[in-house]
Amino acid sequence: MDADARYADVIEKYNRYINPGFARLVSFAGFGVEVRGEGCYIYDHAGRKFLDCLGGYGTFALGHRHPDVIAAVKDQLDRLALSGKAFFNEEAANLAEMLAEIAPGDLQYSFFCNSGAEACEAALKFAKGATGRPGIVSTIGSYHGKTLGVLSVTGREKYRKKFEPLLPGVSFVPYGDAEAAEKAINDQTAAFIVEPIQGEGGIHIPPDGYLRRVRAACDKHGALLIMDEVQTCLGRTGKMFACEHEGVNPDLMTLAKQVGGGVMPLGVLMGTPAVWEKVYGDNPLIHTSTFGGNSLACCAGLAGIKVLKREGLVERSAKMGEYMKRKFEGVQAKYSDMLAYVRGRGLMIGIEFAEDEVGELVVAQLMKRGVSVAYALNNPRVLRFEPPLIITEAEIDFCTTALEEALAETKALLSDLVEV
Ligand SMILES: Cc1ncc(COP(=O)(O)O)c(C=O)c1O
Repeated sequence: MDADARYADVIEKYNRYINPGFARLVSFAGFGVEVRGEGCYIYDHAGRKFLDCLGGYGTFALGHRHPDVIAAVKDQLDRLALSGKAFFNEEAANLAEMLAEIAPGDLQYSFFCNSGAEACEAALKFAKGATGRPGIVSTIGSYHGKTLGVLSVTGREKYRKKFEPLLPGVSFVPYGDAEAAEKAINDQTAAFIVEPIQGEGGIHIPPDGYLRRVRAACDKHGALLIMDEVQTCLGRTGKMFACEHEGVNPDLMTLAKQVGGGVMPLGVLMGTPAVWEKVYGDNPLIHTSTFGGNSLACCAGLAGIKVLKREGLVERSAKMGEYMKRKFEGVQAKYSDMLAYVRGRGLMIGIEFAEDEVGELVVAQLMKRGVSVAYALNNPRVLRFEPPLIITEAEIDFCTTALEEALAETKALLSDLVEV
C-alpha cells in the first residue's frame, strides 16, 4: 500500500470504527499516521519528520524509545510480561522503593495502575476511605481525567454536563485563590485535589504561597491534600516533582505520563503510611488492579528514573525551559497583537492567544513546518509545549522559527479573510 492509500485507509477505519469527529479534528490539524518515534522526533506515514513538542502530553520526558528503557522491557519480555498476580512481583517492589526514595515528605507507599485517571480515581477513594468524610474540593479549570469518578472533580463543565449527576459532595474554587480554598475546606472535607501547575487548564502557575496555604488549610481541618502530578512529575517543571517548587508535601500524589519511561503505560498513586494504614489496614485487597503493577510497566518505570537521574534531566529541564521561554517571549514581543502570554516552568510552557480560534490555525501551520503541538484540553486559547527533556538549543531554535513563521502566515490568512 502506498503512503496516501495507507493514510486514507486509517482515516476510513477511524471514521467507521473509532470516532468520526476525532478523525475530522486530527486531519484538519494536518496530523498523519505516526509510524516511528525516535528521540525528540515522530515520523509519519509519508516519511515526514516532526519535532515532538506535544510529547504525548508530557509522556516522553526521555524522548521516544530511550535505549535503556527499551532494553529493560525487552529483557523483561523474555522472562515474564504480565504478572500472575498471586506471586510477589520484584519489578513492582523495586520501582516502589525507588519512588519512595525520590518522592517528597512521607510518601512511602505506591499503588500501581495504568493511567492518570485511574491514579486520581484511587486518590479520591483513598481520601474518602482514610477520612470517612464525603467532601472533595477541586479547582476550576482542573483536569484529573474523564472516567466518572474523576470527571466529578475535573473543573470544566463542558465535559461534565452530559453525565450528571456525578459524585456528590464536590465543590470547585478558582485555581490559585488560597482564600477561596480556605473557605471551602471544612470538617466535612476528605481532600483538596490540585495540580501544582494546571496543565490542561492552560499552563497556569499558582501564586507563590498558594500550595503552602492550602496545605495549612487541610491540616487545620484534618483534610488530606492530593497533589495531581500526572503531568508535572519527574522533571517536567524543572524539579523532580512540581510541589517541590514550594516545598509542600502532600498526603497523596498521583503520577502517570512520563513515569512509564515513555515506553509503557503506568499510573501510580503514592501515599503516606498513615493513609495506607487506614485504607489497607483491615483489608489488603480493598483496592486492586489486574494489570496495575505489571512487570513490563514497572521495569520501564525503574529504567526511566535511572536515566533521568544519571543524565541530569531534571536540571536540564529547568535550563532548557528557561531558554525556550525566553525565545518564545521574543516571538511574543513581535506578535503581541496575537500572543497574549507566554508562561511556564521547566519544559512545560504555554502560549496564550489573544483570541479564540487562532490556536487551531497555528497548530496546523506548525505541523506544516514539522513541529507537533496541541492546545490545552480545557483551554483552546493555549498551545502547550512539553517536549522531551533531552531537547537541544538548536531544536528549540528550530521550533521558535517555526512558531514565528506560523504566526506570520496565520496573521496573513486572517487578514485575507477579513478583507473578503
Ligand atoms: C493533571 C492530570 N491528571 C490526570 C490526567 C488523566 O490522565 P490519563 O489521560 O492518563 O487518564 C491528566 C491527563 O492529561 C492530567 O494532565
